[in-house]
Parts: sequence; C-alpha cells; structure tokens
Amino acid sequence: MKDLRDYSLLPHNTFGMDVRAARWVEYASEEELRAFLMQGDTPLPLLPVGSGSNLLFLGNFSGTVLHSAIQGIRVVYENEDEVEVCVGSGVVWDEFVAYAVSRGWYGAENLSLIPGEVGASAVQNIGAYGVEVKDLITKVDTLCIATGEHRRFSNAECRYTYRQSVFKREMKGCYIVTKVFFRLSKKPVWHLDYGNIRAELEKAHAELTLETLRAVIIRIRKAKLPDPVEVGNAGSFFMNPVIPLAQYEALRVSYPDMPHYPAGEGKVKVPAGWLIDRCGWKGKKQGKVGVHDKQALVLVNLGGATGEEVRRLAEDVADSVKEKFGIVIVPEVNYI
Ligand code: EPU
Repeated sequence: MKDLRDYSLLPHNTFGMDVRAARWVEYASEEELRAFLMQGDTPLPLLPVGSGSNLLFLGNFSGTVLHSAIQGIRVVYENEDEVEVCVGSGVVWDEFVAYAVSRGWYGAENLSLIPGEVGASAVQNIGAYGVEVKDLITKVDTLCIATGEHRRFSNAECRYTYRQSVFKREMKGCYIVTKVFFRLSKKPVWHLDYGNIRAELEKAHAELTLETLRAVIIRIRKAKLPDPVEVGNAGSFFMNPVIPLAQYEALRVSYPDMPHYPAGEGKVKVPAGWLIDRCGWKGKKQGKVGVHDKQALVLVNLGGATGEEVRRLAEDVADSVKEKFGIVIVPEVNYI
C-alpha cells in the first residue's frame, strides 16, 4: 500500500490544479483497502478518486484521497455468444476497451478514449456515442466505508440514469468500488447512429470492424476534446439539461435549429454545448480559464488557473444560459 502525507495532486487531476492532499492512500487489493478502513484515524473526509478526470479542486484537500490500484481483467463466464469479465477498479478505462476490442468482444468500443478508470466508470455511468456503461455492467463489487464489509450491487441496485448512480446519490460516500463486472457480446452489435459516426466511417473507406470503429471514435473525440496532457480540462463540464416538452416547444419558435433528444414522457434533452455556444462563449477566455474553441461544453485551464477561477467562469456561463434560454445547467464535474 502507498501511504503518503502532504501529497501533490497535480498529476491526479486532469484540470491540472496544483493542490495538495493531507494524505494519499493507494491500495492494490480489497484486503488492503479493508485494513485501511478498519484502522480509522486518518484525516477526513475520505475522497475516492480514479484519474481525477471529473473533479475540480477548489483548494488543498484536508482529508485522505483514496486511489485504487486494483488491477486485472478476468473472464468469469463465457459461451458462444457472450462473455462476462471482472475488472479491477484501478484498470485504466481505455486499456480495458482496447483489450475488449483486441479479443473481439463487442459493447465498449463506442466508449473508447474516455479518460478515467474502471471504478469511476461504474459510479459515473460514463457514456458517449449512443452507449452508456450501464448497458454493459452486470454487477459492482464494493466495500462499505463504515464497516469494511463486502457488498455486491446488481445492475438494478446501482439505479443508473444519465450520468448518475446510487453511488453518487442515495449512497454517496458510503461505498468504494473495487471491481466491476461487464457483459460483452461475441456477436456484432453496432451503435452507429450517433452524430457523425457513419460519415466518418465512410470517409475512412474502411470495412466496419471493432478496430475501425474504435479508430473512428478516437478520431472524433480527438478532433473535439482537448487532450488534458496539453490543456487542463475535465471533459464535459455540464450535464445536458432535461426540460419539459412545453418549454422546448416554446423555445423552438425562436430557435428552430435547437438540437433535442427524447428523454422520457413529456421531457426533452437539449445539449448544453449548443446552449453555451449560442450564448457566444465558444473560444472565449477569462483570465487563465476559457471555453474550448471546438466544444463549448468543455472549460479549460489555460495554464496556472485556480479552481475558483474555473468555478467563476462556470457560474458566468450558467447564468448567461439561464438568462437567454431560461434553462438551468448543472455541472457534471464534482467540486472538491
Ligand atoms: N454543439 C454545438 N456547439 C458546441 C458543442 C455542441 O452546437 O460547442 C451541438 C452539436 O452540434 C450537437 C449537439 O450540440 O448537435 C451535441 O454535441 P455532441 O454530440 O458533441 O455531444 P455533447 O452532448 O456535447 C455528450 C457527452 C460527451 C460525449 C458526447 C458524445 C454529456 C454531458 N456529454 O456531449 O461526454 O462524448 O455526448 O456522445 O453528456 C463527458 O462526459 O465528459 C463527455 C465528453
């Protein structure tokens, strides 16, 4: 187990915030994590993190940051049609996707290149290009923070919705994910209808395979989303808001080109990126922070920004969307 005091979090948050944690603990197994949880006596609160790709540190963290180094991708069941694998929470998400693609397992390829680790994927219900990870997850293994006891959640018990799970809502701060089980298909199941996937595939003149689809998804993401190694960011800063159908219809009169997706009975989801773009924010700078010039949903650290500066920009952006469209947009990124 790694156990360090007054530890720099700079390499552990993709926004590139230069902050420190009172204590950093990294465990390589459930047993190590349980032993740590049972010994008590550590700076509080506890903050489990993956690669810190969805966090904004507003200052130094006075508690204990917990990071999983639990590795391993193990087949637990397979037949001709499908395979179930158990993956350690510390496995890098995209390495798991690459492995699945290399084995000819279908399901995760549209989620290529999403930053982060497997444990966080199950907390956050990551999604992209018409696929959400909840559709692949069968169960999630956790340890209870209070008792150290093992608890396995079924997919239904995780209560997944768009970018949400029981671990972010009702049971926030109660459990730490140690392993995630995924069911993948051995027979082709394609999701090609989102955005420009088909057009990009045609442009590449490539036969449709898991590898070519993964390559196209990676190309689309790289064209729109900044690489955190070059420019600090946390992907989509806001969630896409869901509004009542009546409100959408009223707005459509003035904005007939507003993109929209069905979101359940009487509800419509609209892209926050489009709303922010329409408020004129795309590519704008505000001191050391800014709105990405290729995707308005992404806020960027232009170098040496503080979390407070990002928060101020996010508030200004949200205020102008509220003023222009009467829609409240909520950060997807967690403020710490
Ligand atoms: N749009 C604009 N201007 C912008 C950005 C977007 O007009 O600056 C419009 C686009 O033209 C499109 C619509 O908004 O009509 C949606 O844009 P896009 O397809 O790029 O997706 P998104 O809604 O902005 C979501 C996820 C992304 C995910 C993509 C692809 C959320 C909050 N974000 O973004 O997830 O990669 O779909 O599936 O749901 C992330 O969570 O960090 C993330 C990057």
